[in-house]
Amino acid sequence: MNFTEIKHHEDEFQLATYAKMDIAVERGSGVWVWTSEGDKYLDLYGGHAVCATGHSHPHVVRAIQEQSDKVLFYSNLVYSEIRAKAAEKLVTVAPDVLTKAFFCNSGTEANENAMRIARMATGRKKVLSFDGGFHGRTADSISATFLGKYRDIGKPNVPDHVSAEFGNIESVRAVADRETAAIILEPIQSMAGVREASPAFFSELRQICYDLGIVLIFDEVQTGIGRTGNWFFAGSEHADGAVPDIITLAKSLGSGVPVGACLVNDIVATHIKTNDLGTTFGGGMLAMAAVLATLEAIEDDDMIANSVSIEQHLRDSLVGVAGVKAVLGKGCLIGIEFDEACGAVHKKLLSQKIVTGTSSDPNVLRLLPPLMVSKDEIEMLVEVLRS
Ligand SMILES: Cc1ncc(COP(=O)(O)O)c(C=O)c1O
Repeated sequence: MNFTEIKHHEDEFQLATYAKMDIAVERGSGVWVWTSEGDKYLDLYGGHAVCATGHSHPHVVRAIQEQSDKVLFYSNLVYSEIRAKAAEKLVTVAPDVLTKAFFCNSGTEANENAMRIARMATGRKKVLSFDGGFHGRTADSISATFLGKYRDIGKPNVPDHVSAEFGNIESVRAVADRETAAIILEPIQSMAGVREASPAFFSELRQICYDLGIVLIFDEVQTGIGRTGNWFFAGSEHADGAVPDIITLAKSLGSGVPVGACLVNDIVATHIKTNDLGTTFGGGMLAMAAVLATLEAIEDDDMIANSVSIEQHLRDSLVGVAGVKAVLGKGCLIGIEFDEACGAVHKKLLSQKIVTGTSSDPNVLRLLPPLMVSKDEIEMLVEVLRS
């Protein structure tokens, strides 16, 4: 099918719920995708922060192919070697105190389960989240999403959700109490426009949670799996070393094969019994092969160090570029803040065959590239911005 036919069929047979770019992606390799019309695009959006290892990384593809030849799926009612290896690898790269994984299928499901675990562990109901945070579109996650229109889309909301101001520890003190089960936050608020908080905010938040017996949840659906210059934002210098009780993951975790996870510490894990949590597809063999291979590829190709040097390169290259006000974010989760609304820049880049992302801040363009993007590839973006 050519592009016109593809678009016509998609639009005819699907609910009209996405604002799409006018391209049909046919194949990808590394940081590049090719369209139905044979055009080649530089993908600095990474399929919405999913394709961390680059499109169709050979090690990931081989692992999925080999697993497919053995068995695609069996549920959690049996043991599996690939699940055992993936869980061990994920826990091994996580901060030391996070010792148990629970696998599910998406970011919103990971957050639903994290909040449920927190309520089970504390016997409390209240969940505190932050203005500008995004946690997904299912009932509890969207109720914890105090960003723009989302909470309204999710009405009626789950009760007992309250919010505080991101980065403002006094506003947390004003609402956190001994009835609070969980505090959940995106360590860098990506969708809100790559908003950051000071490292001290995270260590103070950690202390408040210790003092009040609250389960601290970092939603690392975007920041995790190497994207922000460490395996996780949790425990890094950007968090002043603070490690939450639960980390939630999805997006990059499977390089594009749908998978989510909660990483939980020992203390919280003791509250979870047989049948408290579950999902049919969670921990399926194909997804587990993708998880293991993704983590191996990131490690073997030194992608985390690369993401740090890419951030620095971009910061250096954009100094003095007209219209650029600031470079926000860490590693390969970058916001370029312009003096004015950047919708036209986004469109211009697309016309030059460079895919980037927007955000809910009209002035902030988002880059979520594969972690193996090269400086030369980043220079292609910089060239267009300069001109
Ligand atoms: C920080 C964050 N949390 C949760 C989600 C929800 O993930 P999913 O779309 O896989 O349900 C997203 C999705 O964009 C996200 O960015």
